Amino acid sequence: MSLPAEVTRRIGPRNLRRVVYDAETIRRRIAELGREITGAYPGGDLLLVGLLKGSFMFLADLVREIERPLQVDFIRVSSYGTGRESSGRVELLYDPETSLQGKHVVLVEDIIDSGRTLARLIALLQSRGPASLSVSALLDKQLADVLPEARFIGFVAPPVFLVGYGLDHAEEFRHLPFIAELDELNG
Ligand code: IMP
Ligand code: MG
Repeated sequence: MSLPAEVTRRIGPRNLRRVVYDAETIRRRIAELGREITGAYPGGDLLLVGLLKGSFMFLADLVREIERPLQVDFIRVSSYGTGRESSGRVELLYDPETSLQGKHVVLVEDIIDSGRTLARLIALLQSRGPASLSVSALLDKQLADVLPEARFIGFVAPPVFLVGYGLDHAEEFRHLPFIAELDELNG
């Protein structure tokens, strides 16, 4: 695609194939997710745990659409490195400081691909004694029906490599306000 100058300024000499979700589409869907989450937790303590780094933008927008008291924390695991394939190995690099005990915990994730990262994290977080545990992912490539915890899904994504709005390729593109398909020319 021939990129608008405004996009070229943001990404330099790199290529995107097409915009898959524009900023307004993302905003509207997150407002709906916020209403769903607000309605799903009429009582109790609510804790949103953002999986770093990919969820940082989604989490920031999502919490502003949830109209009830809540807490925010983060978790960080090692994942893709610079490639496009999941390694299947999950190593905990940062653990939430906030106690999960007795709270309704929502793990916030940018995208579910193979679901391996999430399956490991869910087992780990379950052992901390939350009142409930669910997952909110902005994008889901295939597994919403397989992971019972995946309750609040933004979009069912096409099976292509996506960047922007938190999603990276080799740490690039996270700052884009839209989500695009990466062009093969980027490696
Ligand atoms: P999974 O363990 O295969 O589900 O991998 C999930 C993680 O891989 C996500 O948290 C992302 O960091 C990364 N990932 C999967 N698909 C994409 C993509 O299309 N673009 C960018 N990152 C992705
Ligand atoms: Mg990543």
